Amino acid sequence: MAYIQWDQKLSVGIAQIDMQHKKLVGMINDMYQAMSQGKGNEALASVLKDLIAYTRTHFAAEEKLMQTHGYPDFAAHKTQHDQLTKQVMDLQADFNAQKVAISTKTAAFLKDWLVNHIMGTDKKYAPYLQGKGVQ
Ligand code: FEO
Repeated sequence: MAYIQWDQKLSVGIAQIDMQHKKLVGMINDMYQAMSQGKGNEALASVLKDLIAYTRTHFAAEEKLMQTHGYPDFAAHKTQHDQLTKQVMDLQADFNAQKVAISTKTAAFLKDWLVNHIMGTDKKYAPYLQGKGVQ
């Protein structure tokens, strides 16, 4: 069973965003699996690097969508993206400096990091964007 199970409660009801969120969920699951299988630091560093790169891609796409449609809470959402990006980049820096290992605690952090943001913040824009015809 996957570490994070995708289900409808994670859906924001906008297909392109759900697809990107599913990919992020898949990447955190890959990291958990790599860790569980005892893969070396090189493999974990590579998964973490890919996760950060795709997070940036996703956040940029979401921000563009919110800006294009004049979402009123854009600034607060963008601030949260910037904070989340910093958190995961700090994690990467600590991991690369061998100050931390990728552990179940790290996986739990990433899971909460993504799931709480989707359910707490992303879901707030869904009715607004859907009202603008975004599907
Ligand atoms: Fe889907 Fe605001 O990140």
